Amino acid sequence: MTDGSRRPFQPAILLEGVTKRFGSVVAVDNVTLAVEEGEFFSLLGPSGCGKTTLLRMLAGFETPDDGSVYLRGEDVTLVQPNKRATNMVFQNYELFPHMTVFNNVAYGLKLKKVPRNEIGQRVNEMLEVVGVGGLGTRAADQLSGGQQQRVALARALINRPAVLLLDEPLSALDVKLRKRMQLELKSIQHSLGTTFVYVTHDQEEALLMSDRVGIMDHGRLLQIGAPRSIYEQPRNEFVADFVGTLNDFAITVTRTDGDLAVAENGDGDRIVVMAGHSCRAGDTLRIAVRPERILLTPRAEEADSGQPGNRLSGRVQDVIYMGPFTQYLVDTGMLGRVVSQRVSNEEATLITPGLEVAVTWAVDAAFPLSDRDPVEAPTT
Ligand SMILES: Nc1ncnc2c1ncn2[C@@H]1O[C@H](COP(=O)(O)OP(=O)(O)OP(=O)(O)O)[C@@H](O)[C@H]1O
Ligand SMILES: [Mg+2]
Repeated sequence: MTDGSRRPFQPAILLEGVTKRFGSVVAVDNVTLAVEEGEFFSLLGPSGCGKTTLLRMLAGFETPDDGSVYLRGEDVTLVQPNKRATNMVFQNYELFPHMTVFNNVAYGLKLKKVPRNEIGQRVNEMLEVVGVGGLGTRAADQLSGGQQQRVALARALINRPAVLLLDEPLSALDVKLRKRMQLELKSIQHSLGTTFVYVTHDQEEALLMSDRVGIMDHGRLLQIGAPRSIYEQPRNEFVADFVGTLNDFAITVTRTDGDLAVAENGDGDRIVVMAGHSCRAGDTLRIAVRPERILLTPRAEEADSGQPGNRLSGRVQDVIYMGPFTQYLVDTGMLGRVVSQRVSNEEATLITPGLEVAVTWAVDAAFPLSDRDPVEAPTT
């Protein structure tokens, strides 16, 4: 264990050019990544993109074909799992079913021959931290899914790992419990200060829990950033589309005005995007706008703003009530279907199917889309 012998200014985790192949499958492809001490870092990506394989290389259950893994500055690429300052929480918890909760959590400390009274104290404290203080004598197979999840967490945290690796730990829970555990996990992580690497394919979960998120596809790390930057400034179409929903438009530029490219159809419809100086009339641009940035105004109430911004005529085709939000599908002559998402308040109820509307969004709400090719991920 590297506990206590920590060198200053080293990231908790450093992966350098790590690749893992299974036959012809490149499960993890040249990943470079640094995770800081105390950080809550999530790996987000679709099924089969290499999340579990990356985590297993951090834990030592897989050895990279290329590249190196460092924990707190120490090269652990070839170090056995039980000799690493990591602990892993598996998707199916893997508790000892007939053992009591107490003994499940105490197991690692007993192996390390920690004195009995210290084990008692530490286990009981940890059971309190994860919210199952009263369940120590219960057998593990007599617990609900959520309780098992907490015990699995306690069992991993009791060893005071430098890094806790969690592989979709909440995926077996119902939505309500899952949402509660997301917040609790985050607060446990915060109070203990342990570095977490958390694997999920749920974008909402990744955004709400993490300090930073890494988006993976086909073994590659496409983008690393804080939740806001991943969502607001996705670097390519895959990231933009995977994290949140998207209106995706192709426009043909009719004129430029400095940095701005304008597309007009002569019927009063106009799109204005920041496109840079190299853009010319006749160019085709692909842009994206999040549904929540798109505003709808009944045409009857539309004031001529005199502003040269985005504006399309449309007719509401469908209204989908989603509880706190309502989604509007609007047919526009210029761009086809546009999706708008608004808070479900009084005003929103005035917009009904068939209504003629003006569709608008701020110029800075649109971002350009590059192709689906992965971009080189930065190391921080
Ligand atoms: N032991 C193995 N032998 C052969 N191929 C494997 C092995 N483990 C993983 N793979 C392959 O490597 C790729 C990445 O798998 P991995 O389990 O890391 O994906 P994942 O992102 O965790 O997916 P999921 O979200 O479904 O859990 C997949 O194509 C998978 O089939
Ligand atoms: Mg997996």
